[in-house]
Amino acid sequence: MGLLINGDLDIVSIATDPRFRRRGVARKLLAHVLDQASVKKAFLEVAVDNEAGLNLYDGLGFQREYVRQKYCQRTRDAWVMMRSEMGENVVW
Ligand SMILES: CC(C)(COP(=O)(O)OP(=O)(O)OC[C@H]1O[C@@H](n2cnc3c(N)ncnc32)[C@H](O)[C@@H]1OP(=O)(O)O)[C@@H](O)C(=O)NCCC(=O)NCCS
Repeated sequence: MGLLINGDLDIVSIATDPRFRRRGVARKLLAHVLDQASVKKAFLEVAVDNEAGLNLYDGLGFQREYVRQKYCQRTRDAWVMMRSEMGENVVW
């Protein structure tokens, strides 16, 4: 699930049915979404201990920007990650 506003895509959540994981489903889905001309920058938060999520986003060219303390379920820290079509720095 995500929100697209003025070219900024906020990826809220993504999950693959456990029976179909590690088959490239999430990577293909996200790559397709990111490839849309209307998407200029994409943002998301992922728990710092979510190895699968971090690997997925690293592989799609997301950069780790900073850590939000106690973001996930108000207990786990999360990386804020960003991907820009232009490779530019984002102004927060
Ligand atoms: C994260 C998640 C969406 C990945 O879905 P998926 O369809 O299995 O992912 P893919 O098969 O497309 O994997 C793409 C890459 O992600 C990484 N990855 C995926 N699962 C991984 C795992 N269990 N451990 C380590 N890296 C993993 C790998 O780099 C993988 O590429 P590779 O298979 O060529 O090594 C899935 O594990 C999931 O639903 N997790 C629970 C929900 C969640 O954590 N969502 C993300 C938080 S925002």
